[in-house]
Amino acid sequence: MTISRNVPGSIDDPSVKAVVAQALALIEKGSRVGLGSGRAATSFIFALGVRVRQGLRVAAVPTSRASAQKAREAGIPLLDLGEDVELDLIVDGADEVSPNLDLVKGWGGALVQERIVTACSKRQVILVGREKLVASLGERGRIPVEVIPLARGPVTRQLKALGLAVVTRTDSDGTRPFLTENGNFTLDCSVTEPLLDASAARRLEAAVLAITGVVDTGLFLGTADTVFVGYPDGRVVTHDRKGP
Ligand code: A5P
Repeated sequence: MTISRNVPGSIDDPSVKAVVAQALALIEKGSRVGLGSGRAATSFIFALGVRVRQGLRVAAVPTSRASAQKAREAGIPLLDLGEDVELDLIVDGADEVSPNLDLVKGWGGALVQERIVTACSKRQVILVGREKLVASLGERGRIPVEVIPLARGPVTRQLKALGLAVVTRTDSDGTRPFLTENGNFTLDCSVTEPLLDASAARRLEAAVLAITGVVDTGLFLGTADTVFVGYPDGRVVTHDRKGP
């Protein structure tokens, strides 16, 4: 397994190690676990694999081909998302976390699968560093929207009409649109006015989802149950969602 080291967000980052340890402590014998995508989730997969090789019995559902591959390499048994599958928890990363634990996700391109696996999980556990904490969603500059390729033009026009700046995400060489694992495009949107509160985020989500051709957005509102925030000195602050 290839894991980058000595860079922020890598498995050697003390803040990542610390939040991974917290998440790992939630895994019990027989747990069914959703595996998120991105660096924090990858570090968790790696750590869970160590426990599995020591004899812990779990089954997991990945949210991307990359996470599936890493889980296989780590020896974690994978489960198909069948009709009756309910997961105990999903452990995932996020790109922004607001004070009420609303999230922006999808910078890594797997938001639809993350949404689906989250919806099948009793609990969403999010692992982040302090750089992901924002006063209002959109602050870090990108709210991803996954769209059917045919609809890119009209969806872009309607997103702009909502006051968003829109950039079509490209492959790493910058020449072609980035394709999600669902064969769709991603429009990275930035807000020109801050989303002042939770209601503003929900109004934006509803308006974007109402556009024909939009598959999903990176706004994960009210889904996070627990957020572990890691600090460079290895401290972890735990935020649990209040109320329903
Ligand atoms: C993947 O689509 C995203 O939702 C990731 O969960 C998010 O980008 C966080 O990734 P990192 O842990 O790499 O920052």
